[in-house]
Amino acid sequence: MSTSIKAFIFDLDGVITDTAEFHFLAWKQLADEEKITFTRADNEQLRGVSRRESLNRMLKGRPIDELTAQAWMERKIVYYKHYLTTITPDYALPGVPQFLAEAREAGIKIGLGSASKNAVEVLEKLQLRNAFDVIGDGYSVVNSKPAPDLFVWVAGGLYTPPNQAVVFEDAEAGIDAALAGGFWAVGLGSANVKKAHLTANGIADLTVQTVLSRMA
Ligand code: BG6
Ligand code: MG
Repeated sequence: MSTSIKAFIFDLDGVITDTAEFHFLAWKQLADEEKITFTRADNEQLRGVSRRESLNRMLKGRPIDELTAQAWMERKIVYYKHYLTTITPDYALPGVPQFLAEAREAGIKIGLGSASKNAVEVLEKLQLRNAFDVIGDGYSVVNSKPAPDLFVWVAGGLYTPPNQAVVFEDAEAGIDAALAGGFWAVGLGSANVKKAHLTANGIADLTVQTVLSRMA
């Protein structure tokens, strides 16, 4: 089959592994300690955005000074890193290692585009770091999702223009980032990803050939 698609770029949290749940539990612990109401529904607004933007959204306009903001983010990361200690290769979401291997077999270049500063650590614990040719994380660009900058940075590293790359995302901010950058987009999971070119419950419901045939 002929296709113009040369690269796949994956979000991490909620796409490769379910660390999205760990982010929620860590923010929830902080919110409970600070007597801030924070529900799973509230957490949907934090999906995919940076650590600082997550704090802003959790605060819902409640003012705090910069020193307190930094201290609270550090506490959240301590809680989050506690959950990271439990991650093993079994924490990859269903079908993910197989899909990555299938893509490589098909000659597709593979990138990671995650807002997280913990992305490399998570990939190492999953034993998937070597599956990626380029890793873009929370240190790679200044403007985080929904800005397209991170995906553009990763695509550049893969020597692939956006219109020949597919982004896999579980967050509205990530789909917006992909579309703003001129990428093809696959939306995964139950969040608001309906603007994507293709949607599925998870990677396990896709094959590489399905994706290529829908994006070509
Ligand atoms: C994103 C997550 O991948 O990374 C967000 O979807 C998270 O929930 C963000 O806040 C930043 O992660 P970290 O590990 O740098 O705090
Ligand atoms: Mg995500």
